[in-house]
Amino acid sequence: MSTTTDSRLTVPDIRARKRGAKLVCLTAYTAPMAKLLDPLVDILLVGDTVGMVLHGLPTTVGVTLDMMVLHGQAVMRGSSRALVVVDMPFGSYERSPRQAHKSAVRIMQETGCQAIKLESGKGIADTIAFLVDRGIAVMGHVGLRPQAVNIDGGFKAKGRFEDERERVLEEARAAEQAGAFAMVIEGVARDLADEITRKVSVPTIGIGASPDCDGQVLVTDDMLGLFDWTPKFVRRYANLRETISRAAATFAADVRSGHFPDAAEIYTLKAK
Ligand code: KIV
Repeated sequence: MSTTTDSRLTVPDIRARKRGAKLVCLTAYTAPMAKLLDPLVDILLVGDTVGMVLHGLPTTVGVTLDMMVLHGQAVMRGSSRALVVVDMPFGSYERSPRQAHKSAVRIMQETGCQAIKLESGKGIADTIAFLVDRGIAVMGHVGLRPQAVNIDGGFKAKGRFEDERERVLEEARAAEQAGAFAMVIEGVARDLADEITRKVSVPTIGIGASPDCDGQVLVTDDMLGLFDWTPKFVRRYANLRETISRAAATFAADVRSGHFPDAAEIYTLKAK
């Protein structure tokens, strides 16, 4: 395995995992979470889901470059081993390859991340090629594209109809040919995810896609059970919502009954 000076996994390390050991990817938006996850995953994704998960936005459309830079910096500070990929937010790359280049350079220079991810409809292939030619590692994102939620009228699974299948397959091929080093496949029928995984030469990372993708990603807060609603494809590995509620309720009761703080939790005058 090749490493950079701070011994992070590199883009070539990830690319080399096509049909190798499964890639593990989780989202992170803060330094403490990055620190916890860093030894356990291959890729930390600073996803634009941060807008919904941490900022209470209804979709990812309201996420800005400033937000991605701030959270990207925090995740870089909290990690030293995983490859860190930062999402390009809606509106920061679609206008032209030059606009995308300016946004990606800002993200990379201000966070120090190794790669960016963008939602890659077919029309974005030229932009991916433009960025890759200029030394920017790009992860694609095909299938359900959350930034296009207003076109679709909601977060809808893709590839269940023949014409849609062809379109998603084309998007994946176009991203690969343009030089993407890996791609997220989100919310597509399993056999389509399998066909893409067979047909592209770079690793596919599934979310609501197929167990046969080259890796899997989940939104960390979803798998930790921090929300009362989770999509069908999320497996909950913890129920932190309940844990946090219970802890806060106990704290409130202790404060109200005078049981917090007790002698061990307060400072007393010291003799000099
Ligand atoms: O923004 C994000 O967290 C993502 C994952 C859902 C893959 O793109």
